[in-house]
Amino acid sequence: IKPKPTVFMIFGGTGDLAERKLIPALYNLFLAEYMPKEFKIVGLGRTAYQDDSFREVLLEGVNKHSRSGKAEKDKWAEFAEHISYLKADVHNEKDYEKMEKIIETCDASWSEPSVIIHYLAVTPQFFPIIAKNLAKMKLANDINRTRIVVEKPFGHDLESAKELNHLLKNIFHESQIYRIDHYLGKETVQNMLAFRFANALFEPIWNRNYIEHVQISVTEDIGVEDRGGYYNTSGALRDMVQNHILQVLCLVAMEPPVNFDAEEIRNRKVDVLRAMRKFGSEEIRHNTVRGQYSEGWVEGEKVVGYREEKDVDPDSNTETFAALKFFIDNWRWQNVPFYVRTGKRIHQKSSIISIQFKDVPHLIFPSKSTESWQQNRLIISIQPEMSIRLQVQAKRPGLDMILNPVDMVFNYDGTYSTDTPEAYETLLLDAMKGDQTLFMRGDQVETAWELLMPVLESWESKKSISFPNYSADSWGPETAEALIAKDGFHWFTLPIKKSEKEK
Ligand code: BG6
Repeated sequence: IKPKPTVFMIFGGTGDLAERKLIPALYNLFLAEYMPKEFKIVGLGRTAYQDDSFREVLLEGVNKHSRSGKAEKDKWAEFAEHISYLKADVHNEKDYEKMEKIIETCDASWSEPSVIIHYLAVTPQFFPIIAKNLAKMKLANDINRTRIVVEKPFGHDLESAKELNHLLKNIFHESQIYRIDHYLGKETVQNMLAFRFANALFEPIWNRNYIEHVQISVTEDIGVEDRGGYYNTSGALRDMVQNHILQVLCLVAMEPPVNFDAEEIRNRKVDVLRAMRKFGSEEIRHNTVRGQYSEGWVEGEKVVGYREEKDVDPDSNTETFAALKFFIDNWRWQNVPFYVRTGKRIHQKSSIISIQFKDVPHLIFPSKSTESWQQNRLIISIQPEMSIRLQVQAKRPGLDMILNPVDMVFNYDGTYSTDTPEAYETLLLDAMKGDQTLFMRGDQVETAWELLMPVLESWESKKSISFPNYSADSWGPETAEALIAKDGFHWFTLPIKKSEKEK
């Protein structure tokens, strides 16, 4: 189903997100004929652009960042017709009146009343003022027509997240608020729902009786790049765990929903967050690890340590790595550890979920045949490889009875020839259609903050930790290995393919 006629108001229209992600995503939706016939994209910013000069900048962004490669001249021209620029100051009420005029003009010539999407691609300090000014617009509380998309970070802590929720909910109905978490738009993450709930095979063993532990590992080889200013006030726990990793964990751990409705799925996800074991001081001491990278060598090039990065405080105690052991106190998951880790400047860029099953109850094979024994594992690789692997034991061909772990692999690239949409394509299309399934609800965000607050507070109060404690291009601090090794496990990694290393 095509979305209804839509007006996209992009606050931060001249910013990095618009250039790298939003416009390329909308352009790809246009190429794939998912955009409605009638749509308008209005970039809002303080720079003095004309429509044409603004379109030029966006075209450069598309050429550089779009998965479909360089824009085709005719197609781009057709798409660019729908784009305009409005020089606007978020504080100035008059500029909101101008936006209203644009909407009225569209409505006057279009076949039906438009859906209006206010996309907040600006730093969070502007969220409140924009929301307050949007509230004065005529259609603000029309639940059928107006939507607001809020980028992360959604709050800096529990209190600020509550304040922001409070502010937004005073103006908009929850069904108008789209809190974006781009991980939920990733193809492999969405496939978690299909994999678990469209196959009869896995659900019976998806519990504490068969699963020994779960790992979610999201590692990046890049440093903080030019986002040092933001990152230094955030850190790995806020930047990755509070949102992306906990959202993925919820999809792994949730109970089967009754249907595919957004509310039903989001209810089941928030149940997981509510069941997660609280962190007391003992748990913080034993079940959490933080790290910060020092200088090092990445593919023959010297890279600076975190404290030397641009806009980072030279004494910074911000963590660029976090590893935690979670428990979910419910019937399904009692005492099954969920280990998560994330970090920057790690040896390999990779996002994987690894589910390790319990061992066989009795081993009938002689010890010589089982030297490379490996318990069954299900590995869902989110990126860069997009695959699902089931590791099982098999007999190695030959006259001896030697067992080997082998992989049964579903690889997206090999199975499908179609290009995979970018997360933002999926999410922007959903926002246009009014489907909130892959967006975070207010209570989810707050419950996730609530869970992590004791860890954040403890880390912030104990600054004596000796940072940096891992070097660039390593696997993070040794203590992260110890966190999992003391339970008898190790972090699972997929071998890097040569082609990926070259990227
Ligand atoms: C963002 C974080 O939300 O996700 C970044 O702010 C991080 O620090 C990025 O690099 C990772 O996203 P992806 O899609 O590259 O895994």
